[in-house]
Amino acid sequence: MGELAIDGGKSVRKELLPYGHQWIDEADVQAVIEVLRSDWLTTGPKIGEFEQAFADFVGAKEAVAVSSGTAALHTAMYAIGIEPGDEVIVPPMTFAASANCIVFQGGTPVFADVDPDTLLLDPAQVEAKITPRTKAIIAVDYTGQPCDYDALQIIASRHGLALVADACHALGGFYKGRPIGTLADLSTFSFHPVKHITTGEGGMIATDDPNLAQRMRVFRNHGITTDHRQREQSGSWFYGMVDLGYNYRLTDIQCAFGMSQLRKLPDWVARRQEIAHRYDAAFAELPTVKPLAVRDDISHAYHLYVIQLDLTQLQATRADVFAALRAEGIGVNVHYIPVHLHPFYRERFDTGPGLCPVAEAAYERLVTLPMFPAMKDEDVDDVVLAISKVTSAYRT
Ligand SMILES: Cc1ncc(COP(=O)(O)O)c(C=O)c1O
Repeated sequence: MGELAIDGGKSVRKELLPYGHQWIDEADVQAVIEVLRSDWLTTGPKIGEFEQAFADFVGAKEAVAVSSGTAALHTAMYAIGIEPGDEVIVPPMTFAASANCIVFQGGTPVFADVDPDTLLLDPAQVEAKITPRTKAIIAVDYTGQPCDYDALQIIASRHGLALVADACHALGGFYKGRPIGTLADLSTFSFHPVKHITTGEGGMIATDDPNLAQRMRVFRNHGITTDHRQREQSGSWFYGMVDLGYNYRLTDIQCAFGMSQLRKLPDWVARRQEIAHRYDAAFAELPTVKPLAVRDDISHAYHLYVIQLDLTQLQATRADVFAALRAEGIGVNVHYIPVHLHPFYRERFDTGPGLCPVAEAAYERLVTLPMFPAMKDEDVDDVVLAISKVTSAYRT
């Protein structure tokens, strides 16, 4: 490991346990090989098949496949018509892409603070940030816990705003019995390797609105209304570019991979929940460690398992605890540096400390623990052992 364990003795683990990891099986490999041997590597039949399978899984009418979660967010901002001068409300406790997508379209991100217990977008803070220029709200299902969609939907309807779910953490989750993917006008997903299912890179937008779906299919294809295969089938070379779009297409190779992964998703979410419960039970005994609150009307998809350290009971900063856990072979991480504190946002939008005090205070105490379905119970126990070893060493 290169660093000494906290007690100068042996680290809990010899090899670093990562915080997230993909799970690939032989069926995934075969699915990819089959496409490699076919005629269509991109814009082929696997795109529609994956979109349909995904839409069926989340219970949405339509799903549009794109090349990443970031592309999904950008495509969503385009679809709802975000333009220069428009404001979009977004929480700071998220990955930068949740806010960057607004800027891609020339809009202005307006940061609304989070609830101190769940660190999810606080509907009261959203309400307080609405101006005549507000066009949309982006709700981020941070760690995989669904936001309070009923409250957000009421605000969105009252003010005529679009509601977009950045559900990149929450595939397989439910809110009051309704699946993630059906709770907002548009719901975006990521297939990065640490997410619930992977296509290497990839993303999807789910919606019940066929017009929005059509707009998004054009946008992901350079703003052109037909793709290569459609033109080949119709025997025509002609196409029209009707708007400025991008190449945000997902390949057939990735779509076949994604479909194979999707079949395993329910088991993987169940395993993530088991791991979370094992952590919860262990940390109930540790006063210096507080898991994030979980609402009782949701089913948590547990992309991440985040703890808050009680630094008043520790003679250490979060950075000290982080370094000590890494030295124990635990691949901890931190999600997230509040987006409004990044230099780009400070310079471009004049944001900075004090704008979202709840997120800023939480950031100082957060640690993300390993969480992925292939983790064994013994791996979870190693994480718990390392946390109790490190926190006891630093206990005041
Ligand atoms: C909340 C959130 N939104 C968006 C993204 C962007 O997804 P991708 O990495 O697939 O572009 C991520 C990925 O890390 C994320 O965690």
